[in-house]
Amino acid sequence: MMSNEVLKAIYERRSVRDFSPMPVDEQQVMEIIRAGSWAPSGLNNQPWRFVVVKDAKAKEEIAGKTRYGHIIEAAPVIVSVFLDRKAMYHEVKDIQAIGACLQNMLLAAHAQGLGAVWLGEILKNKEKVSEIVSLPSHLELMAVVAIGHPAQRNQTSERKGLDELILKII
Ligand SMILES: Cc1cc2nc3c(=O)[nH]c(=O)nc-3n(C[C@H](O)[C@H](O)[C@H](O)COP(=O)(O)O)c2cc1C
Repeated sequence: MMSNEVLKAIYERRSVRDFSPMPVDEQQVMEIIRAGSWAPSGLNNQPWRFVVVKDAKAKEEIAGKTRYGHIIEAAPVIVSVFLDRKAMYHEVKDIQAIGACLQNMLLAAHAQGLGAVWLGEILKNKEKVSEIVSLPSHLELMAVVAIGHPAQRNQTSERKGLDELILKII
């Protein structure tokens, strides 16, 4: 029995890859991006930038850049997350911060009853995605988040046990 809401969201969030065609409320998308923007970052440099894509034609073009394109096409909205290389101060730490931003976004989608999935396979074509959305080269694609109303809520997942993960307690 999970009593804490944050812990409950962490454990109950699942990647959602099937969406109903129902559009996503603009305010809910903004809440997802706001939650992302409240992630921690080194020196509070907030190196994340976002592109919201709802337009079916643009979505189709982006979908063509990953083998998970069917997920992008089915999602009423995608948010592409970019690292602003002009705002960077430390490669590893800035990329870690973007990861925290992405996890906040997934949790915010889940908290609002939406489904979302973090898509990374598309990074093999990150320059092409930047071109499609007309962004200059200092903005580097980190992930695409596909968002929508879940078509079903039966997703399951597995994790290794802590006995495998904790190397030592000294
Ligand atoms: C860096 C990263 C890249 C990912 N790329 C993809 C992807 O390209 N396609 C996809 O369907 N899921 C992708 N995922 C989602 C993972 O498959 C998923 O998080 C994992 O299987 C655990 O399932 P859960 O999110 O339901 O707990 C990615 C997740 C991360 C963190």
